[in-house]
Amino acid sequence: MHIKKQGVYKTIITRRTIRCFKQKPLSAFILKRLINAARLAPSAANLQPLEFIVVCNQSICNKIFLNLKWAAYIAPEGTPTAGKRPVAYIAVLVARTKARLKYAAYDVGAAVQNILLTAWEHGIGACWIQSIGRRKIKKILNTREDYRLDSIIALGYRDEWPVAEDFKGTVKYWKDKKGRLHVPKRKLSEVYKII
Ligand SMILES: Cc1cc2nc3c(=O)[nH]c(=O)nc-3n(C[C@H](O)[C@H](O)[C@H](O)COP(=O)(O)O)c2cc1C
Repeated sequence: MHIKKQGVYKTIITRRTIRCFKQKPLSAFILKRLINAARLAPSAANLQPLEFIVVCNQSICNKIFLNLKWAAYIAPEGTPTAGKRPVAYIAVLVARTKARLKYAAYDVGAAVQNILLTAWEHGIGACWIQSIGRRKIKKILNTREDYRLDSIIALGYRDEWPVAEDFKGTVKYWKDKKGRLHVPKRKLSEVYKII
């Protein structure tokens, strides 16, 4: 059997959440690609209730940053320091008029993962953030009342190299003495059976 070493599988298994970024801007080409990847994700009943705001403007980025919570298990160590902050954000919005609320979260999951994987393929790191000041960010972005702000995705060329490791009794990610993030994952043998 031919086993492909490149491609989607490799992107999936090497991707890690990134919270430390180089201060290099992202091109409009790549940002549009990320949204295109999200747009084409699976959608319950194909309702496609999601819309996105891409924020590159640094003064708006700074305002958004103040309303995000990072890496709760290791706070404040996981919060990006000055000079390592995200250079762009994507706000993921759910159009209430288009959504069946029961399914919207699944749509968000599929769309966000498409964004994270497409970004990773371009060497761009991302952090999916749900601990956010929704009301404040909606105000900053001037979004309509009938849209729900679901998630923020922080983006930038990555400046850290986290490593996934086998779960050893705790799900809490941790940083070693060199500042490298270790992310425990349950073992393959533990999470499935074939019948
Ligand atoms: C739905 C969801 C919400 C998340 N919210 C946050 C968050 O608010 N802040 C944060 O720093 N990371 C957040 N994360 C990132 C997780 O902490 C991260 O995915 C987890 O530690 C596993 O690391 P990995 O993505 O490298 O596999 C979130 C992830 C998901 C899927």
